Amino acid sequence: MSITWYIQEFDEVESTQDLIKQDVRDGAVVMAASQAKGRGRHGREWLSESGNLYFSFCLQPQMSSQNIGQLALVVAVALGQAVQSLLHAPEKMQLKWPNDILIDGKKCAGILIETDLLGDQIDAVYVGIGLNLRTAPPEGEVLSDYAAELPGRAEVLQMILACMSEHYQAWRGGHFSEILSLWLSMAHQKGAPVSVKLGEQLLSGSFEGVDEQGALLIKDAADQSIRTITAGDVYL
Ligand code: BTN
Repeated sequence: MSITWYIQEFDEVESTQDLIKQDVRDGAVVMAASQAKGRGRHGREWLSESGNLYFSFCLQPQMSSQNIGQLALVVAVALGQAVQSLLHAPEKMQLKWPNDILIDGKKCAGILIETDLLGDQIDAVYVGIGLNLRTAPPEGEVLSDYAAELPGRAEVLQMILACMSEHYQAWRGGHFSEILSLWLSMAHQKGAPVSVKLGEQLLSGSFEGVDEQGALLIKDAADQSIRTITAGDVYL
């Protein structure tokens, strides 16, 4: 069954990721022109001046919490495809595990996934996306520099939600392996050097792929063992 999106638009908010938690229903979407307290993963700040796209949506997939890693890849593929469709040179878009979107090797969008659980079951998933359409911090990239004509943010939102509907439905229908193949085709090449910061520890090695739960597989440079990483921060 296709998902129906219920979109609410605001000017400035503190964080769409907080607002969405006040509208807990499958398909709820909150978009804002700017955020005073935008946040990224690991409690980092997400600069949210106007000109970019900031939104959060709620899904209630009624599944085990073990599937969150897969859902993170579903969202990344959907966002990645939408971004690619706007680029002059779609191959410049690359996914970085777990869920960054790079253009020309620099971050252009980030995804924040938070959950409410009921025991082992997902009650609700809140997906927050920040996409640098026109402005970015110095280490980031903007889409407008790589797009022939950039539609307004409401239209970009619709494009992302359309891709999200398609891949979410496929995932619910049991087609994760196809989504994983797509993710791998958009991600770094096998053998590429990867470092993961796990708390204070830095693990260096090479990219081996992603497992069926969406976890990262790294060959540890120290002892050549394959390490499975389900959380952390990846730097290329
Ligand atoms: C990251 O890469 O660290 C994730 C960034 C997620 C930012 C988005 S912007 C919309 C939503 N509201 C927030 O406060 N954060 C997410």
